[in-house]
Amino acid sequence: MILIRGGRPLRGEVPISGAKNAALPAIFASLLTSEPVRLENVPRLADVETALQLVQALGKRVRWEAGAVVIEQQAPPTASPPAELVGRMRASFLCLGPILARRGQARVPLPGGCAIGARPVDLHLKGLARLGADLRLRERWVEAKAAGLRGGEVYLDYPSVGATEQLLLAGALAEGETVILNPAREPEVEDLGRLLSAMGAEVSWGEKVVRVRGRAELGGARHRVIPDRIEAGTYLLAAAACGGTVRVRGVVPQHLGALLVKLREAALEVERGRDWVEVVVKDRLQALTVETRPHPGFPTDLQPPLVSALTLARGESVVRETVFENRFGHVPELVRLGAEIRRQGQTLLVQGVERLVGTRVAASDLRAGAALVVAGLAAHGCTQVERAWHLRRGYQGLVEKLRGLGAEIWEEADCRE
Ligand code: EPZ
Repeated sequence: MILIRGGRPLRGEVPISGAKNAALPAIFASLLTSEPVRLENVPRLADVETALQLVQALGKRVRWEAGAVVIEQQAPPTASPPAELVGRMRASFLCLGPILARRGQARVPLPGGCAIGARPVDLHLKGLARLGADLRLRERWVEAKAAGLRGGEVYLDYPSVGATEQLLLAGALAEGETVILNPAREPEVEDLGRLLSAMGAEVSWGEKVVRVRGRAELGGARHRVIPDRIEAGTYLLAAAACGGTVRVRGVVPQHLGALLVKLREAALEVERGRDWVEVVVKDRLQALTVETRPHPGFPTDLQPPLVSALTLARGESVVRETVFENRFGHVPELVRLGAEIRRQGQTLLVQGVERLVGTRVAASDLRAGAALVVAGLAAHGCTQVERAWHLRRGYQGLVEKLRGLGAEIWEEADCRE
């Protein structure tokens, strides 16, 4: 569990780690080649460890060299990953496209729903079928066969991050060109495109379209994972909630565009340089109206910590979640800390209060956990965040980084640990 004595401003600079959601697809991209793939700036997180265990279970060798991970092995991956590893993390489903492309067959368990919603994979499967895969569902396993994937045109009904990544991965080893219409264009998806290009596929972006020209074989590559915009945004929102001055260093400021516009709208001073962003909070935040959207819209992963900051704003904020149907696990816990929040369907009405007061709360998922830490830092007295292991999936060195900003925060073992 994480314990916080809150109610004090944050001051200082915090270094930002590599992006979890860029590192995970990059690890699965290593399955496309027999040559070594060296990934730099990979964060040491529970989800990254799960992905590395999965590629190892499929036959890869993995070694860490300083901040980089090297993934290598000549033979094609085995056809089926252990169900337990796929069950632990939904992103594991991204191994389907690479295994199928390398071996001509794959057997991967369907990832179930999770705390933030049903999260189906229909768009992944429809897309792979368009590339010539023969797919069957048997007792919650996807059994796929393809005598050789062929490029084709795929239209995504929704710009799903995972489906776009799955199709880029499979398309990189398909014959000819794969055209994905209405793709996701999150920075992490673009980062995967850069890695695949470095491996020999040709990935090019147009207006609402991405094309990948596949190769019969892909080579190894050396790739630096982009900085984690969600981690950076969480620290900026912690400053917004607590007051003070916080600079996040080692970021790509353009990746934080929607958040920075909203922070300015809330009357914060925001400055940015080539690879840093700083917020200066002198006064109470102004209430905001925010809707989560695919990139470059406001990211759903920052909705929970944003709501935490808005619980202390002047006036009533309106926050609408359009990406996931159940991403509100933080709301009842914030109410326990004294927040005034009403839920109407997918919309939250957040009436700002003068102060939050610390108590015992529990994280239901990674970003809900981040929201509770942000609220706990701002709340008066002690907050105890239970089920804090969720935070280890996405925030490298969270406690140390917040201490570096002057927070009184420490971690103790939960019963699960
Ligand atoms: C990625 O999840 C991220 N995960 C999520 O980060 C992030 O919240 C999400 O993109 C949106 O930005 C990784 O990159 C590992 P989607 P993903 O496919 O790929 C529906 C975090 O906290 N959908 O864009 O699963 C789906 O149910 C995490 O770091 C279908 O209906 O997101 C959801 O409502 C959590 N059919 C919406 O689309 C499909 O086949 C967006 O999902 C696929 C998705």
